Amino acid sequence: MPQQRIESPAFFIGKGTDDSDLISFGSGQPDLPPPPSVYKVLEHFRSFKYGLVQGTESLRAALAKEYPYAEPEDFVITNGASEAIDLTLRAIAKDALGSKVLLPRPYYYSYPHNVVLTGMVPVYTDLQKGKIDFEAFARDVAGCRAVIINSPSNPTGTVQEIEMLKKIEELCEEKGIYIVSDEVYKDFIYVRGNYLLHGEKVVTVNSFSKTYAMCGLRVGYIYTKNREIIDTAVEMKSHTSMNTSLVGQAMALAALGERDSYVAEHAKIWKERRDFMYRGMQALRLDVWEPEGAFFIMPKFKNAHRAMHDLHYNHRIITYSGEWFGAPERLRFSYALNVEEIEEGLRRVKKFLETEYKTY
Ligand SMILES: Cc1ncc(COP(=O)(O)O)c(C=O)c1O
Repeated sequence: MPQQRIESPAFFIGKGTDDSDLISFGSGQPDLPPPPSVYKVLEHFRSFKYGLVQGTESLRAALAKEYPYAEPEDFVITNGASEAIDLTLRAIAKDALGSKVLLPRPYYYSYPHNVVLTGMVPVYTDLQKGKIDFEAFARDVAGCRAVIINSPSNPTGTVQEIEMLKKIEELCEEKGIYIVSDEVYKDFIYVRGNYLLHGEKVVTVNSFSKTYAMCGLRVGYIYTKNREIIDTAVEMKSHTSMNTSLVGQAMALAALGERDSYVAEHAKIWKERRDFMYRGMQALRLDVWEPEGAFFIMPKFKNAHRAMHDLHYNHRIITYSGEWFGAPERLRFSYALNVEEIEEGLRRVKKFLETEYKTY
């Protein structure tokens, strides 16, 4: 097979689903089914007209019950967290083109692109084994208009300490800096409950993609008490994508109805996978930190980008190059796979470590 150089995650997206011999540690999407009630929506669904740009009242009212002191008007329902991030950043960039946005590095690979597309400029603060160093953060955030916090993090799998999040909240409030808190993995925390960042300039972004395994339905949301952000986001959305899919929103509402039992049942499965993956990587003597949330682990590799190619072309394993996340010395493995596949994948990684990796 000719070996094409792999430049971006787009090379792998969608691969692996129809090829049972390929082990994909690539994609960041849950392999488990969504809550059963989601399937029942279609039978009765009959709304084919345009809907409210801000999102259906029923879904916003149900979401408001999930957050303390929230009101339905504090939400905008979006095409996944992706559109929520884009609208939020564009609202923040309004009348402030060229402003700086701080990204803790390693970062989710879309963030730098999201920032650039708004006309703002990404700047970085380096994480230490996935954790924020407050002194560095305080230095690097000076002069920024916004910061994106992603805890639990894709790609590091780390969760920031609650004390750290409170210090960040306080500092940003004092300096008038927006915090965009991307909490798409908030229901995948193995070490504590979630801590919801709050404040006048805090914008929470979330979606139904990960918690409810509904990535393809494209339903997410913005939640904030900041009226200006909500109004600007709705105004922009009314000229771009308009309402988010109504059937998607109806399915999201059905999923919310099963939230407690679904999340509790799945938390056990994800923790078991996390433990299995972490122990497996330790047994291979790879340099990793223990993942505390989400479903990613980031081992260090010599010549990591080449290792990604060899793992793919010679061992039929998909991993994502750390280069895409601002961590060129590492690879990202997603463990959104059943334990048998993880086991087989680790067996192949072992083979790779014992063969061509030795010559690196
Ligand atoms: C950190 C993070 N934010 C946002 C997204 C986008 O999620 P959605 O499918 O809701 O657009 C992802 C998807 O992988 C993610 O990992």
